[in-house]
Amino acid sequence: MFFLPLYHNLAGARCLVIGAGTTAVRKIRWLLRAEADIEVISPDVSPAIKALANAGKLKVTTAVFDPGQVTPDLRLIISATNNRDVNRFVYDAAIKAGVLVNCVDQPDLCTFIFPAIVDRSPILIAITSMGNAPTLARVVRGWIEAQLSPNLGKLADLARSLRDRVKIELPSVDARKAFWETLFRSAAAESAMQGNLGDAKTKAEAMLTATTSTETGGVPQASVALIGAGPGDPELITLKALRLIQSADVILYDKLANPAILDYARRDAELEFVGKQGPKPGSPPTRPDNRGNQQFSINDAIIGHARAGRNVVRLKGGDPFIYGRGGEEMEQVLEAGFEVIMVPGITAALGAASYAGIPLTYRNLSQSVRFVTGHRVENVVNLDWPEMGRRDQTLVIYMGLVGLPTILAKLIEHGCEVERPAALIENATWPEQRVIVATVSTLADMAAAAEVTGPSVVIIGDVVAKRKS
Ligand SMILES: C[S@@+](CC[C@H](N)C(=O)[O-])C[C@H]1O[C@@H](n2cnc3c(N)ncnc32)[C@H](O)[C@@H]1O
Repeated sequence: MFFLPLYHNLAGARCLVIGAGTTAVRKIRWLLRAEADIEVISPDVSPAIKALANAGKLKVTTAVFDPGQVTPDLRLIISATNNRDVNRFVYDAAIKAGVLVNCVDQPDLCTFIFPAIVDRSPILIAITSMGNAPTLARVVRGWIEAQLSPNLGKLADLARSLRDRVKIELPSVDARKAFWETLFRSAAAESAMQGNLGDAKTKAEAMLTATTSTETGGVPQASVALIGAGPGDPELITLKALRLIQSADVILYDKLANPAILDYARRDAELEFVGKQGPKPGSPPTRPDNRGNQQFSINDAIIGHARAGRNVVRLKGGDPFIYGRGGEEMEQVLEAGFEVIMVPGITAALGAASYAGIPLTYRNLSQSVRFVTGHRVENVVNLDWPEMGRRDQTLVIYMGLVGLPTILAKLIEHGCEVERPAALIENATWPEQRVIVATVSTLADMAAAAEVTGPSVVIIGDVVAKRKS
């Protein structure tokens, strides 16, 4: 059996529902949404349906079904009883009167069926298994629901508000199609989906002006998204990150972003690796590195792609604003005149703590958490070591592998007790994650003996002892 999905206008149309239990209520909800004129026929009526009748939403006839109740002015009939004889009776009467009929859970007694519905009105998605596996259709609905912004409908509102202007200003069908495709992946679309229609409209109108202007060569305003990819596990990215990655024209990605996330990109998206190389463990901490120059060329690349009208995703490990130079990149892009969509990610400290089973705060043990960088520790004159070693707090050190012996020695020198629990988490949230649990006095030697070389964070504080290995 093949059912063609058609969207039916039921506003004001007479619809009959036979049965008044929970199944009937589920169907009635959709009929109400469609503003149908509903009559329920049943000898027993559930409180939910009584309440709807009392609220004037539908009419109830307390009676057993009689084929005489089926008249040709009806648009459709739903039989929501679990009595197969009644269902057959309803079906025959409906067919005779030429009225659409659905006997719930009996596809052979249906001329139409209800799909599982994803409702982002006015965007509506119908999913059906043609009556073969309704539960599977509902599971698929869950998968689709998870992919779509709850505010997708606002994007349709934005498009509707611009439709007439776009038709006038872009007479060619191809130009209109290109404009809409760019718009739906732009910062204007993001504003709409955040519920800010006014801002969305201003941005969209600026895009339209740029598209029709000879000054810009018809290149519409592109968007740049700075996205946190999380510490490794690809399932730790946000739904917003996923959506933007799926619609990007070009993705500039870091060494620390899991390349598996790139599988979500469009097949024709350009993927550009722009990882920076920092000092390796064992190399002198004062070794000059080239990351400043590398950062300039990353900024240039982002802006270059945006100027060419592409939707750019800059995918960074962890969170862009935590030791990720996201602030600098954001400033540069804004200065170049482009919108920036910031998408937070799970920073390494949070991923490492959760996946290692170390709570970062704990009542009576740690009331605050401090994130510090151990990068170039020899040059850092402003680290307040007595503060770093205070009890009742958790210290998380990023980029602390190279300077680990020095950092731990400084902590001890400034009063941190040698037995304070400390842990190093290497490759946090990746399958190859390693956790070394020690104390402030033993961690550096244990890390050296374990030949740790991957990205690592160090957690220091009594909370480390809460880990159940
Ligand atoms: C340049 S910082 C980037 C931090 C990133 N923006 C974040 O929010 O996690 C690089 C440092 O982050 C830490 N890091 C990043 N990913 C990590 C992971 N999967 N496991 C442990 N540490 C990680 C390490 O300390 C590494 O040296």
